[in-house]
Amino acid sequence: MYEQISHTLLNDILNRIKPEISEQDLRHFYTRLGANFYAIHSLFERLYGDREDFEEQAQNMVETMARQYIKRSEKLRQLDLEREKDYNWFLHQQWVGMALYCKGFAGTLNGLQERLHYFQELGVNLVHVMPIMRCPEGSSDGGYAVSDFREINPEVGTLEDVRELAEEMKKRDILLVLDVVVNHTSNKHYWATCARAGEKKYQDYYYTFENRNVPDMFEQSMPEIFPETSPGNFTWDEEMGRWVMTVFNDFQWDLNYSNPSVFVEMLNIILFWANQGADILRLDAVAFLWKKIGSTCQNEREAHLILQLLKDCCQVTAPGVVFIAEAIVAPVEVIKYFGEDAVIAKECEIAYNATFMALLWDAVATKNARLLNQGIKSLPVKLERATWLNYVRCHDDIGLGFDDRDILLCDYEPARHRRFLIDYFTGKYEKSHARGLPFGQNSKTGDARISGSLASLAGLEHALETGDDKAIDDSIKLILLLHGMILSFGGIPLLYYGDEIGALNDDSYRDDPHKKGDTRWVHRPSIDWDKADKRNTVGTVEYKIFSALKRMVAVRKEIEVFADFNNRELIEVENPHLFVFGRYHLQKPNERVLVVSNFSNKPQHLNLDDLGGWGAQYRLMTDLYRGETPDIFKNSLVIPPFSFYWLCER
Ligand code: GLC
Repeated sequence: MYEQISHTLLNDILNRIKPEISEQDLRHFYTRLGANFYAIHSLFERLYGDREDFEEQAQNMVETMARQYIKRSEKLRQLDLEREKDYNWFLHQQWVGMALYCKGFAGTLNGLQERLHYFQELGVNLVHVMPIMRCPEGSSDGGYAVSDFREINPEVGTLEDVRELAEEMKKRDILLVLDVVVNHTSNKHYWATCARAGEKKYQDYYYTFENRNVPDMFEQSMPEIFPETSPGNFTWDEEMGRWVMTVFNDFQWDLNYSNPSVFVEMLNIILFWANQGADILRLDAVAFLWKKIGSTCQNEREAHLILQLLKDCCQVTAPGVVFIAEAIVAPVEVIKYFGEDAVIAKECEIAYNATFMALLWDAVATKNARLLNQGIKSLPVKLERATWLNYVRCHDDIGLGFDDRDILLCDYEPARHRRFLIDYFTGKYEKSHARGLPFGQNSKTGDARISGSLASLAGLEHALETGDDKAIDDSIKLILLLHGMILSFGGIPLLYYGDEIGALNDDSYRDDPHKKGDTRWVHRPSIDWDKADKRNTVGTVEYKIFSALKRMVAVRKEIEVFADFNNRELIEVENPHLFVFGRYHLQKPNERVLVVSNFSNKPQHLNLDDLGGWGAQYRLMTDLYRGETPDIFKNSLVIPPFSFYWLCER
């Protein structure tokens, strides 16, 4: 959009731009800058317009974008142009992801490169390599306490290795996802070191206070994220003689985005990683970007403005790169991270579907799909050209962030129901064979979350120990059922490394003094490649899980209606154990797939009359996953325990 004020500012900026920039051929850069500048200016002005250095900072921002564009390789610029044309590329059903720790998966970045064939064997073509930037040993929060945003943790390799990996992945059509930890830095980061040494400039990069007055005001409304290991939201720094805001661990200092220098620094870092060859950037803890006294300091309007501004700027320099929002917040809030009031995503194109994940686990514990159906019914419709990241497990805990109203609608009492879930997954509940551990227990609020590997939570560890074949079989079915859901729901399915071979809890973290207080380490495995090799031996647990997933992935890629164009319809059926939804084609009405899943340990029936228009041709259905026609008894479809169908009409 053309508008005089922003256009005048843009002209002024371009007149002042440094010769080393203005002498370059930046044709595509300028057309994109012109297209986005009205939005960029409006957002920058909303956030920082009252500052004396506003124009100087705006100049810095544009020069940062231009410098990174100049550094962007020709190959990546080409890819940008291709993706501009094929703008729905990330909504396609061909993408299947896996998240992993480089060290735990393959030791080093070079090791990871040598194992790329493993992803190809399984059909995974999007790999999220969790944070590999330099962190202080011992206080790293699994890579999320970064002390240098442009250096690699020497244990896993070098920057050169990342570039090589990115290039090799591109050759094999595998997307690379990297993290940018935007909300905080390690207390050992250069900025923090300067702040500690008394440099005002860098103290303004963080929230620091000489006494408890402001921190105490904040504390009145801020929840605690790590109540056991890091209670409160502020830490006293002896050397600096000031309190500093530390929402997560006490060694993770929150960045102050009301300072535009912080914004420009982070933009520069994001573009730096885009230029190393990342296709997708996962922006960590985005709900926390803006702090306001009297609020929870999560999901503030300004946090969204910052993300929109980052998006608008990234689109100018590296439009082929998309963002994942890591915002593990209530469904009504998470949906806003796609971009509020926009038609197409103008913030982060992809967001973690933590709601779906937690609801799936509810169905596992209750063996029915009541809350799952209710929760999905309440899930707001997202924007066009935005998609979910659907997952069963990840490196973090499982939070029970359901909406209390949904719990009540299922006739459960919220606090008691959550207690039941915690007891169920930590094995306290009598009938449960789950082997999870509590995480983030807060004695003040009674809150708790759950750690544990998928296999151990699904009862496989217990079943193997007791040698109970039926129980082993059931837990494998459950593991596959959960994957059947994330592969068909709509969005990018993200597998978690180790789950494809049934990796169990790893208790070795207890021997490490830096890890033992954080139960999330129990599900961050080091892959045992001898165990992984068993995927090739028919009859082993590894074979059963891996080969079934491989098939599911391959079938998913063939089913066009599994691409995510908001083409899903939840179908409410009488039987509470079932979760049923339809996927349809927006242009081809005859192409549709009915997904039917049974979370009970008993066979269940689906009355075909419940299906309405979806049941029309029911007697001629084929399950695309198994290639068979499922059993029908009279007017009911029969669904075996812990299983699912992807049905198409013949
Ligand atoms: C994100 C990460 C989590 C980390 C936190 C603080 O939520 O996923 O692992 O502890 O941010 O950086």
